[in-house]
Amino acid sequence: MNSDHGHLTSDIAVRKAEHIDLVLNADVEFRRSTGLDGFEFVHEALPELALKEIDSTTELFGRALRAPVLVSGMTGGTPLAGQINERIARAVAAAGLGMGVGSQRISFERPELIETFQVRRFAPHALLIANLGAVQLNCGVTPDDCRRLVESIEADALASRLNPLQEVTQPGGDTDFRASSPRLPRSAARWDCR
Ligand SMILES: Cc1cc2nc3c(=O)[nH]c(=O)nc-3n(C[C@H](O)[C@H](O)[C@H](O)COP(=O)(O)O)c2cc1C
Repeated sequence: MNSDHGHLTSDIAVRKAEHIDLVLNADVEFRRSTGLDGFEFVHEALPELALKEIDSTTELFGRALRAPVLVSGMTGGTPLAGQINERIARAVAAAGLGMGVGSQRISFERPELIETFQVRRFAPHALLIANLGAVQLNCGVTPDDCRRLVESIEADALASRLNPLQEVTQPGGDTDFRASSPRLPRSAARWDCR
C-alpha cells in the first residue's frame, strides 16, 4: 500500500474521537422518518401457534445468530473506541447476535491501534465483520491488504463502506470514486468470497 496519507494519520484518530463525541454529546439525531413508522403491527388474537415454535435464528457467513440482528460497524482507532467495541462484543456475545467494527483504515498506518478493533476474545463465536471504505481501493489498498484487515481481527467477513457523501464533506476525505464499482467485485473475486 502506498502511504500518501501520512499526514492524515492523526487526523483519522482525531476524527474517530470526534465521531464518538458528536454522537454522544451533539444534537445529531436523524430528524426525518426512516419510513418504518409507516408500518404497524396488527395484534393477532388467534395466532394458532406456540411461541416456542417461532424460530428467529439464522446463519450468516458461517456464524449462527439467535436473530437476524447486527450492531453495525461504528468505531475503533482510539482507546475509547476500543472500549466501545469491547462492550458491543460482550453484548452481542451474550445476546447471540453479530457486530461490525468501524473502518480499520487507521490500522494500516498505526498498527498498534489494531487492538482497538480486536474483539474476538470477548465474542469467540459471534459474527464479526471487518470494515473499510470502498474508496480505499482507489488509494492503493489491495485485496491482500483487505484480507489482512479481516485476519487481523479474526473477522468472518469485510464490510466495504460506500460513503462518498461523508468523504466529500469531511476534511481530508478521499474523493476519487472512479472505478470503485468494478474494483469491488474484482477484489471480492480475488478472495473467492460472497
Ligand atoms: C459514530 C459512528 C461512526 C460510524 N463509523 C462507521 C464506519 O467506520 N464504517 C461504517 O461502515 N459505518 C460507520 N457508521 C455507520 C453505521 O454503521 C450505520 O450505518 C449508521 O449509523 C446508520 O445506522 P443507524 O441509523 O442505525 O445509526 C458509523 C456510525 C456512527 C454513529
